[in-house]
Amino acid sequence: MEKKIKAIFNEKFGKEPEMYASAGRINLIGEHTDYNGGYVFPGAIDKVIMAAILPNGTDTVKVYSVDINEEAEFGLREEDAPKQQWARYIFGVCREIIKRGGTVKGFDAVFAGNVPLGAGLSSSAALESCFAYALNDLFNGNTIDKFELARIGQSTEHNYCGVNCGIMDQFASVFGKKDHLMRLDCRSMEFEYFPFKIDGYKLVLLDSKVKHALVDSPYNKRRQSCERVAKMLGVETLRDATMEALNAARGELTAEDYFRAKFVIEEKQRVLDVCDALQRGDCETVGRKMYETHNGLSKDYEVSCEELDFLNDIARECGVTGSRIMGGGFGGCTINLVKDSLYEPFIATAKKEFKKKYGHEPVEIPVVISDGARKLS
Ligand code: GLA
Repeated sequence: MEKKIKAIFNEKFGKEPEMYASAGRINLIGEHTDYNGGYVFPGAIDKVIMAAILPNGTDTVKVYSVDINEEAEFGLREEDAPKQQWARYIFGVCREIIKRGGTVKGFDAVFAGNVPLGAGLSSSAALESCFAYALNDLFNGNTIDKFELARIGQSTEHNYCGVNCGIMDQFASVFGKKDHLMRLDCRSMEFEYFPFKIDGYKLVLLDSKVKHALVDSPYNKRRQSCERVAKMLGVETLRDATMEALNAARGELTAEDYFRAKFVIEEKQRVLDVCDALQRGDCETVGRKMYETHNGLSKDYEVSCEELDFLNDIARECGVTGSRIMGGGFGGCTINLVKDSLYEPFIATAKKEFKKKYGHEPVEIPVVISDGARKLS
């Protein structure tokens, strides 16, 4: 991919570019907790966005997306926003750097990726952090720290893409480290790397191919529910709420808001439990918690869908150690922790049964925990 992108850049712009990459992410557990000040436990994966970039000495940005086979050209003022959605991610990153007092000038770029789109692997965060990293290197002497790079990506989602997301995806994409997951406390932004050792098990995603676009999904509504309950309980975020306090206030809450908050409060403890279990090498406990999360996301938070519940049921029936819907929800994939010996039969059964019911096979995506945003040599 690197060679191909470079060659296209050479052909289009006749120069030698600098090369950058950033990664998509998985999240082992801790879903919809980031914007509630809770914990998440993600890692960057070996599916990346790669970009060839070079300043062009003008005030104009020219970008070519290899995968979409489209070009965009835009200026760097607020009123210059491009029409194409994919280009708005890049424009947003430029604008957010400038708004923070950083420098961005005109540049030429070509990019491509192998992060599946709409599968819940945060291809958009990978794109944002790839460009944020590159523009920090090319125009700002790497003076913008990594937390700020993640926030630049998050603000791009908020201000240019209409998704009021938390910090998890951009954080994972910027800070990702080979063979390590990261437990991030989204209230204090303190984090710790955990070696991800699961000898005898594999991590695999099954992409249902049911597309979710968070832009028109009820993602923002879930967030509003949580904020309403936090306000009612007199805490800043649900991170500081307890089940006792929630139950005491139940009469004043809609049933919907109650169950949303219940999920978040339970989920924040599950992240801590899973981190402890992983450190002990206790994959069985990790797996059990993953099923509990799925159940909560499906019944209480209501962000699953029929196809993903079906994949989760199959995993359970096949004796898979842990399985759950991953990411924002409303489609996308399940993440599965599978014993080596069960891997082949599980994948075969899932493909066969899913196809029988929905007419197409889910796509198997084995993942390896890898580095996040970086410059390629
Ligand atoms: C999306 C958002 C994240 C996070 C997850 C759910 O991926 O971008 O910030 O809220 O959903 O855990």
